Amino acid sequence: MRERISNLTPPKTSMIILSIETSCDETAVSLVSANGDFPHATYTLLGNALFSQIDIHREYGGVFPMVAKREHARTLVPMLEKALREAKLLVNEAHAIGDETLGTIKNILARESDLETALIPFLSSHTRPQIDLISVTHGPGLEPALWVGVNFARALAASWEIPVVSANHMEGHILSSVFDGTKIADITFPALALLISGGHTELVLIENWGVYTTIGETRDDAVGEAFDKSARMLGLPYPGGPEISRCAAHAREIHTPPFVHLPRPMLNSGDFDFSFSGLKTAVRYAVQNVELTENIRSSVAREFEDAVTEVLLHKTLAAVDAHGIHTVIIGGGVSANTHIRNSFSNHFREHYPEVSLYLPDPKLSTDNAIMIALTGHAHAHDASTPNDASTIRAIGNLHLT
Ligand code: KG4
Ligand code: ZN
Repeated sequence: MRERISNLTPPKTSMIILSIETSCDETAVSLVSANGDFPHATYTLLGNALFSQIDIHREYGGVFPMVAKREHARTLVPMLEKALREAKLLVNEAHAIGDETLGTIKNILARESDLETALIPFLSSHTRPQIDLISVTHGPGLEPALWVGVNFARALAASWEIPVVSANHMEGHILSSVFDGTKIADITFPALALLISGGHTELVLIENWGVYTTIGETRDDAVGEAFDKSARMLGLPYPGGPEISRCAAHAREIHTPPFVHLPRPMLNSGDFDFSFSGLKTAVRYAVQNVELTENIRSSVAREFEDAVTEVLLHKTLAAVDAHGIHTVIIGGGVSANTHIRNSFSNHFREHYPEVSLYLPDPKLSTDNAIMIALTGHAHAHDASTPNDASTIRAIGNLHLT
């Protein structure tokens, strides 16, 4: 049965967006009101709920897609309820779901039985909230995890007859970096985004909002992945990024002597690509057969952070020069790293004062649903965005271009 929402379009000037993010190990739901058109709108966060699966994945030393999927299915309805309550949009009242709608919902959730078990009682005990648009991450990310969010969005859209727009997670990271909590910054193009997360490392040329060209990317591991894997070799828990950062800060503070020199992969490769698997291997060799003292661990962590930062900064500056960039935007979970933030801020302030540098609020660096609301809003009136929720697919390797 088709979902009957294809002819609904969101209102023009002001809308409330329900956003859903399940691409990796955070289950996030937000309610954001947008006043005006993108990129000049004013945004108000009405409700925000986020469940981090980190404690569950820590036991396994990493994120397993099927575990992530199960946890999303278990927590999405409670997160929706929490966000709606916070936004004062939760109306607890018996609500009969028509047979046809029920059939559609069951059909959509055919592969999400845990979600169906939680969602149908919720829908039959709450009336349709006053929201205008649903925005859901459909990629990139872990496909089983993404599907839970997409199917959840489709089921809600069918039940409430609300249009749904699919959002690119990486565009979300870009927008969250230029978001000051109320507005999207009025940036000067061309801009360059350095996207650094657990699954991505790329340099994206932005000629205008929505006009993206990836000019460089990692040929193997993402930088966050290198942080996580190197941390593991140093005996640090998952996720390794914040752990390495903490140890490296300690080494800088007490001036531990250098223990090893690590490579700066592809520093002078002449293109904008990256490679981090060799760096990770170098960490393995450096620490094998070594009794890891606190000092050695911290010293290796500092050297690793220095190597990563040097490569990221060098490549970003080369791209700034080559493309006449006016604005640099750093996004993705690794942009929470203090050393990377400080190194970029200091370098740009001293050597590129004419280039504006944007770093995300640390609270918005890692995955969240607010960035998905912004991305959905950017595409709400985009004619090429399918309004028909049944066509939305989770795409694990979704590209920006
Ligand atoms: O963007 P994100 O939350 O999820 C993905 O889309 O991948 O990024 C998660 C990554 C993980 O690899 C994590 O270790 C890394 O971001 N990360 C950090 C820091 N905080 C998170 N890496 C370095 N330093 C940090 N402070
Ligand atoms: Zn992310």
